[in-house]
Amino acid sequence: MQHKTIIEPFRIKSVEPIQLSTETQRIANLKKAHYNPFLLLSDQVIIDLLTDSGTSAMSSAQWAGILEGDEAYAGSHSWLKMERVIKDLTGFEFILPTHQGRAAERIIYGHLGGADKTFISNTHFDTTRANIEFSGAEAIDIPIDAAHDMADFHPFKGNMNVAKLEALIAEKGAANIGAVILTVTNNSSGGQPVSMENAEQAAAICKKNGVLFILDCCRIAENSYFIKHREAGFENRTYKQIAQQMFALADGAVMSAKKDALVNMGGFLVLKDEVLADACKSLLIITEGFTTYGGLSGRDMEAIAIGLEEVFDPHYLQYRIKSTEYLGSKLRDMGVPLIWPTGGHAVYIDAKALYSHIPSNEYPGQALVCELYRLGGIRSVEIGSVMFGKYDDAGKLIPAPMELVRLAIPRRVYTQSHIEYVIETFAEIMKERPNVKGYRIVKEPKFLRHFTAHFEMI
Ligand code: F0G
Repeated sequence: MQHKTIIEPFRIKSVEPIQLSTETQRIANLKKAHYNPFLLLSDQVIIDLLTDSGTSAMSSAQWAGILEGDEAYAGSHSWLKMERVIKDLTGFEFILPTHQGRAAERIIYGHLGGADKTFISNTHFDTTRANIEFSGAEAIDIPIDAAHDMADFHPFKGNMNVAKLEALIAEKGAANIGAVILTVTNNSSGGQPVSMENAEQAAAICKKNGVLFILDCCRIAENSYFIKHREAGFENRTYKQIAQQMFALADGAVMSAKKDALVNMGGFLVLKDEVLADACKSLLIITEGFTTYGGLSGRDMEAIAIGLEEVFDPHYLQYRIKSTEYLGSKLRDMGVPLIWPTGGHAVYIDAKALYSHIPSNEYPGQALVCELYRLGGIRSVEIGSVMFGKYDDAGKLIPAPMELVRLAIPRRVYTQSHIEYVIETFAEIMKERPNVKGYRIVKEPKFLRHFTAHFEMI
């Protein structure tokens, strides 16, 4: 059969204009934003690859569902619909709605955490780690060794190191483990997938030791795509069946619906154990809302219920993963250093290798996010020493292990020509490479400095 282009499996019914700009305008915008793209205005951005979270385009069915939203305080039919869809997908008995992922994290990890507790994950996402550490507990990441080799192909680079998991549980004592958290796909480690075999091994170790096993499942549909196409034995299973098989291994799951539920706001916590669920429900009512809405409107719950079914459509998932892969492969062919293979929701550029003349304390990732904006009006995010760098007692920077820049692809938002434009911008990035200079921080807050820091070009 003749190979045909994989097209966007949707037509566009409603459009949102993009404000085009000149390089001169963008240089002025960048200066005004103190060279921090978080401080740019949305209207100043041509292609916004800052995050795939809450940036999805909803379908006409979801917008129609919005009008069906039942805004009753208790027992709304929109809640019943969302609960039914989540129960069917996850198989869990107790479903707690929340306004986004980190609210679910605060409830469960706040409850399970506290001083002397340890949480173990393939890699904790920042908000997961922050909620755990805020409770006084420690959060330990145990990705597999292959995760540290950016260029080497591994089909499931997001996996957890299960030998280390066994050793850590033995070392800390099972009673001191708050939970083991498997993040699928592994966002902080390149959006890389986790295999079913790895999930089964982690689940078995947790079961043997009586430790709680939780999925951070915000990109589980994308993870299921990789399992079907890369792991033997799953060729004939549907994406949803694969997700269901993974949920069946866990004691609970936390979801930011802003990713694979294809909505702009929402989340949930699901649990198997009634006692734990009751404790979490009390916390839910104190800070999020009653158990039949959490922090959500009825219309949000309608949109989540519909989005969670749409996301498993094989044509959607093929388009989704292939378009991210298309961007990654084209950039790789041009010699742009990046994490290989491409993950599900984003391409991660190795800015340290791209700008090898810029040392870590001059922030090569920040240089790349500024260059992407200057040359193409593209907004991306630095995931390196700006985000994770710390200072030693003498005030010297302790750099992050990697200097990455993430190009996260919003779901159903950009077309192939937008992606071609990003690729063309990278051709200019490669040409300009030797002329690019580093940055210094001139103003920074004490915590989470990347959001608000001010920079100056060196
Ligand atoms: N877990 C993972 C794996 C995430 O990627 C995120 C959010 C969360 C939890 C928290 O969910 O934002 O709804 O509170 N990731 C976004 C990102 C912010 O840009 O990757 P939330």
